Amino acid sequence: MSLINISSQISDQPNARLVARSLASVWHPCTQMKQHADFPLIPIQSGDGVWLTDMAGKRYLDGVSSWWVNLFGHANPRINAALVAQLNSLEHVMLAGCTHEPAVELAERLAGLTGLGHAFYASDGASAVEIALKMSFHYWRNVGQPFKQKFVALSNSYHGETLGALAVTDVALFRDVYHGLLNNNIITPAPVPSVHQLDDNFPCCIACAEEAAQALEQLLMQRHHEIAAFIVEPLVQGAAGMRMYHPHYLVRARQLCTAYNVHLIADEIMTGFGRTGTMFAWTQSHAPRPDFICLSKGITGGYLPLSCVLTTDTVYAAFYDDATARGFLHSHSYTGSALACRAALATLDIFESDNVIALNAKNAPLFNQYCLPLREHPRVKNFRHLGMIWAFELETRRTAFAQYFFAEAVARGLLLRPIGYTVYFMPPYVIDAETFKWMVDQTLAILDNINE
Ligand SMILES: Cc1ncc(COP(=O)(O)O)c(C=O)c1O
Repeated sequence: MSLINISSQISDQPNARLVARSLASVWHPCTQMKQHADFPLIPIQSGDGVWLTDMAGKRYLDGVSSWWVNLFGHANPRINAALVAQLNSLEHVMLAGCTHEPAVELAERLAGLTGLGHAFYASDGASAVEIALKMSFHYWRNVGQPFKQKFVALSNSYHGETLGALAVTDVALFRDVYHGLLNNNIITPAPVPSVHQLDDNFPCCIACAEEAAQALEQLLMQRHHEIAAFIVEPLVQGAAGMRMYHPHYLVRARQLCTAYNVHLIADEIMTGFGRTGTMFAWTQSHAPRPDFICLSKGITGGYLPLSCVLTTDTVYAAFYDDATARGFLHSHSYTGSALACRAALATLDIFESDNVIALNAKNAPLFNQYCLPLREHPRVKNFRHLGMIWAFELETRRTAFAQYFFAEAVARGLLLRPIGYTVYFMPPYVIDAETFKWMVDQTLAILDNINE
């Protein structure tokens, strides 16, 4: 089916009108707008659980949790109720000079979950990364080591699109054009083989993890005096195509960062809040905690922009001083929004009351069984699974595969956004077995129709 045909499917009146207004007025994220000339926007009117509905009543299964944020479904009654109650008492107050119950309770509960007792709030994931980088840089200055200014990131890493975050991102498509604006940081090999060289041991190749750890060791040995921090997406490099790796790497990275006096920043923006099977991916390494954890996305169950950087007493103490300039003077107007913090608290309540981590662990084997025909499909390579993420590469010569697959899936009422030739499922945790199977069946039907 051509993209133009798909476009005509969305051409009923209310849908078409909203799409036309959107294309005339909204500059959409991560998008070459010209492609929307024949590649449809999906005009969403409402959401309910794992389903989104367009203006004409057609439903779409949100198979990617709306860019990895939604955990407990759209229009979740419990999060809705918590937000309505919060709305009726306090929507927002600046967090400089003031404080409020939701921000405090959330910081306390996140400290309990991570062991890191100082929470600095922001809005999106990239702003959390900026904060962690700035805090690390400033820490070393405050403790008399001002030459530690560089950051180390993994090859294929993704940490966001603002300039600081982009400077520790290694995805050429996002980064290359802005090269002249970015700080010159250091890239070290990721603990995963290239997707073109994966073997049967993928994704848990301990040898790859050790090899990459040795590269990190060489780097830190030679340049630790100029390195402030190492930033890492624990266990899964999401935007690089759900590249999963062995926790051994995190153990070694923690040892090395400690040995060479370099901060370790765990970017759990995608992996946090149960996505990899534990509340935070880092804990699967059983290594001592990182110096900074960046959280966002699932933190509010997908409701409101909120991010948070958690750090240690040692880091906090280095800023605590009579001199104003030694403090961390970073801010955003909506830092610690009461509404966003309330959504996060309601999300944590659901984790506790529904025993979500255990429930997901119980459901995953069944979902894996449904995936068996995919795993065995002749076009599927490197099928992998961790927690509530399933991914594989497609063997096809079809160009613009991601767009083709997206359009085919949308026509079938399924919202999936492949990354290159990598197809992945990252549904809200409330997906039931029947719906998961339906998602797999639709995917299989699309694969069976590819003839290139
Ligand atoms: C690991 C990681 N870090 C940072 C970000 C940036 O988050 P945001 O898009 O909210 O700025 C993302 C977004 O996908 C991410 O996956």
